[in-house]
Amino acid sequence: MIKFTINNEDVSLDIAEEMPLLYAIRDELQLTGTKFGCGAGQCGACTVHIDGVAMRSCITPVSYATNKKITTIEGLDPENNHSVQISWREFKVPQCGYCQAGQIMSAAAMLAQNTAPTDNDIDNGMQGNICRCGTYVRIKKAIKHAATLNQEKSVGEV
Ligand code: FES
Ligand code: FES
Repeated sequence: MIKFTINNEDVSLDIAEEMPLLYAIRDELQLTGTKFGCGAGQCGACTVHIDGVAMRSCITPVSYATNKKITTIEGLDPENNHSVQISWREFKVPQCGYCQAGQIMSAAAMLAQNTAPTDNDIDNGMQGNICRCGTYVRIKKAIKHAATLNQEKSVGEV
């Protein structure tokens, strides 16, 4: 049995240890917001958070998730109102949408570590999240805006 927590729910799965985490998420748990793109760690479509770190679930064996906390796009915010999601809507970032769950998960993990990323930080942090539709300019604007929303929120909480 492989046991982990996903989107704040404890799960136990009777599956092979070497199964990619992505397959467990999509096929065993029916959380299909996380996408299969390349299956080789090259595109970022399958990005999820493992203990808060953005990782490629297609090349991560499910055994790695044992006793860890996984967050997928479905669990990022209960109301889909994470600052990155709000900003993504405001800037109408997605085109076809296929890469966007991975983009959002990478952006959210980056902003959790770096509250005011520069252009360079964003380029580095988002490296490896490929968008065939070329939404990169909107992604960058939306990340900067999300950082501003986070700062406004933290000022409001003081
Ligand atoms: S599907 Fe995982 S990086 Fe492309
Ligand atoms: S929006 Fe189409 S691949 Fe990124």
